[in-house]
Amino acid sequence: MYTEHVLSGMRPTGALHLGHYHGVLTNWVKLQHEYSCLFFVADWHALTTQYDDPSRISQNILEMVVDWLAAGVDPRQSAIFVQSRIPEHAELHLLLSMMTPLPWLERVPTYKDQQEKLSSKDLSTYGFLGYPLLQAADILIYRANRVPVGEDQVPHIEFAREIARRFNHLYGREPGFEEKAWEAVKKLGGKKARQYEELRARYQQEGDKSAIGQAHALLDDVQHLSAADRERLFGHLEGSGKVILVEPQAMLTAASRMPGLDGQKMSKSYANTIALREAPESVTKKIRAMPTDPARVRRSDPGEPQKCPVWQLHQTYSEESCRAWVQEGCRKASFGCLDCKQPVIDSVLKELAPIQERARYYQEDAALARNILADGCEKAREIARETMRDVREAMGVDGAF
Ligand code: TRP
Ligand code: SF4
Repeated sequence: MYTEHVLSGMRPTGALHLGHYHGVLTNWVKLQHEYSCLFFVADWHALTTQYDDPSRISQNILEMVVDWLAAGVDPRQSAIFVQSRIPEHAELHLLLSMMTPLPWLERVPTYKDQQEKLSSKDLSTYGFLGYPLLQAADILIYRANRVPVGEDQVPHIEFAREIARRFNHLYGREPGFEEKAWEAVKKLGGKKARQYEELRARYQQEGDKSAIGQAHALLDDVQHLSAADRERLFGHLEGSGKVILVEPQAMLTAASRMPGLDGQKMSKSYANTIALREAPESVTKKIRAMPTDPARVRRSDPGEPQKCPVWQLHQTYSEESCRAWVQEGCRKASFGCLDCKQPVIDSVLKELAPIQERARYYQEDAALARNILADGCEKAREIARETMRDVREAMGVDGAF
């Protein structure tokens, strides 16, 4: 069975918090059981906005990887690596830049948005404009089918799809493609070859889009095909040329908005976070200091959970019976806010305990995480090299002159 490739990356921002855990990491941990996964640290992307002060980037890389491992990303199932260790990303970025229309980059919505948001920095740079193209190279170089990201990244994935399509259109016309495709059909064997031809006819003559999905499923079940033949058959199916770069799809994480200590979304820029490696005393102190419904001045004043950020944490962490207890006790003022906060403190500490234990294990011996990264880089690089061979050949820069 041909497995789909999942890829995602994160910029090294330093210590991760519960927002990252609930929003991203639990999802990665789940996906690694179902797909072949690649997760990487996008340190070059960090440079696009931090080029004036890169000093913390390298230190943040290892910190962040320790947090990934602590959260349960499993190096035996997923390749974990660092972007700047795979120079092929840069080469693909360069080659793609030759065929990327400038207006495509200028109209990616994050370009103007981020420039305005980070107006204290000069982001009228070449690197910043090219951010989505570098991201496209990150994805396309692994022929990743699926990219788990948040809503804000969807335009970048769509951009990567457009780049892949343009690339295949421009360079996918391999000489003798038709004959090679027929040869590949024959290799499927009598029955499968017939089924493939039927599905191809159904799509091309009747425009039946469902035939494409069925044909992909059919090809996914064939094990003995080479990667090149598989691409030819995908291309032949749709009447285009060879599919050299695969069009990726965004995989939206179910919107899990982790509330922060003040009720806004948890984010470092709001200073309302609980770090994954926050000491238990500090977690307790922070939650005890959380603002509550301002109507509850004295313990005897009734309150309303809807107006209280602690209630949002109960919705994330507490069972129905506890939530009913909160609603009643708050409105009847039958307990104080510190009593109400205790179950949340207990749940957060219980969630963090195994994460922090694993983090300690990796912190004690930095060589562990470094070795994991070295292994991950090796696995990633093997795939990247293979793609680059095809890309160079397609663009006529493979040194064959
Ligand atoms: N731009 C992404 C972010 O800020 C990080 C990233 C870089 C990425 N390259 C990627 C995510 C490739 C997914 C795939 O979150
Ligand atoms: Fe918030 Fe609980 Fe206090 Fe009500 S009792 S205001 S829900 S902390």
